Amino acid sequence: MNVLLIGSGGREHALAWALAKSPLLSRFYCAPGNPGIAKVAEIVTLDFADHQAVVSFCHMNAIGFLVVGPEAPLVAGLVDDLAKAGIKAFGPSKFAAQLEGSKGFTKDICRAHGIPTAAYECFNDATAALAYLRKHGTPIVVKADGLAAGKGVTVAMTMGEAEAAIADIFAGRFGGASCVIEEYLEGEEASYFALSDGEHVLPLTTAQDHKRVGDGDTGPNTGGMGAYSPAPCMTEALCEETLERIVKPTVKALAAMGHPYKGVLYAGLMLTRDGPKLIEYNARFGDPETQVLMPRLEGDLLSLLLATADGSLDKMSMTWRPETALTVVMAAKGYPGEYVKAVLIGGLDQDFGAGVEVFHAGTAMKGDKLVSNGGRVLNVTALGATAREAQAKAYAAVDKIDFPQGFCRRDIGWRAIKA
Ligand code: AMP
Ligand code: GLY
Repeated sequence: MNVLLIGSGGREHALAWALAKSPLLSRFYCAPGNPGIAKVAEIVTLDFADHQAVVSFCHMNAIGFLVVGPEAPLVAGLVDDLAKAGIKAFGPSKFAAQLEGSKGFTKDICRAHGIPTAAYECFNDATAALAYLRKHGTPIVVKADGLAAGKGVTVAMTMGEAEAAIADIFAGRFGGASCVIEEYLEGEEASYFALSDGEHVLPLTTAQDHKRVGDGDTGPNTGGMGAYSPAPCMTEALCEETLERIVKPTVKALAAMGHPYKGVLYAGLMLTRDGPKLIEYNARFGDPETQVLMPRLEGDLLSLLLATADGSLDKMSMTWRPETALTVVMAAKGYPGEYVKAVLIGGLDQDFGAGVEVFHAGTAMKGDKLVSNGGRVLNVTALGATAREAQAKAYAAVDKIDFPQGFCRRDIGWRAIKA
């Protein structure tokens, strides 16, 4: 089968690395890809925002299956347009992708089906939002409704911060003019992943990431500076509770709405004293979480993704390597603010040892030289018998990479090691 993967980040390199091993694969393409992905797939120049161009490419190259990496094409309805053209794809429809694209949509499903989440209210005007804020006080969480690349959330400790966040949203800083205000939840955060074919749910595994840029979880939020899997805090009982009380009711709810959810459900959880509560859903794999899921996956990723699209997940099973996988993000100096651009990276051609993979995120070729092409540049990933061993192996590889204009956190995995 010919497969086209859409995306260009570390997540897509990890997916490409796993897909490339599939015995079902004939030709493997990726658009727009990156130099790491180029080692396992044919890179094609294709604007995935142009759905007709994607459809034409699929017809011309006999693509039997398309795998969508990032959220934007899902929310834009790429999978719907492919389905209309008779092309099978991995990822939810535009309607179902609202689980990620609209916080209000997700919160309303939680309310209707008793899915544990923070108490909340949705607002379309600032006056009502401010009145709610004054009634409830701080700490409180203000969220722009819509895709805001992780930047639309303010965890406000003071009234001033909360008021500023509301003002920003209704000034149109995040595109729309609606917000969700919700109860502040306290606890440890963890991520839970499952595949849904619209009816059946196949639980995957768990992970935790490090969102802050600095050691000790300090400094501004980023897209993620590192991650590990499994998350030690996600005991079997908590996984079961998440599956039964959060994920399965969501899948049922969407099916009942006539829009079955087909794809991966990535639940961001807060483990509160009252059990796991849903913070958010993502309708795609995590980045950098995928970089720690794929090395632990045993068996064929392509078969799993096909079964998700085909509605036959009930016939699938899967196992995960018991080891811990840990990834360290190497970023360009300055990230997440203004960062250096197109700086040289060397030393990637060496053997980093068994169980170590360097996934490319923001990289590009400049002539025959590898350069940075984004804020998050490399994901140095290692498997270890313990979190401590995975961490040691990942940093040993980091130290062999020649990227003087890059930086990374030095404490990825501290929570797992402490556990
Ligand atoms: P989100 O984009 O909804 O995942 O929110 C980004 C981050 O804000 C989360 O990873 C949490 O750290 C934090 N956050 C979101 N909602 C809450 C909440 N209700 N209580 C406390 N922290 C939250
Ligand atoms: N690592 C966070 C995300 O993929 O949304």
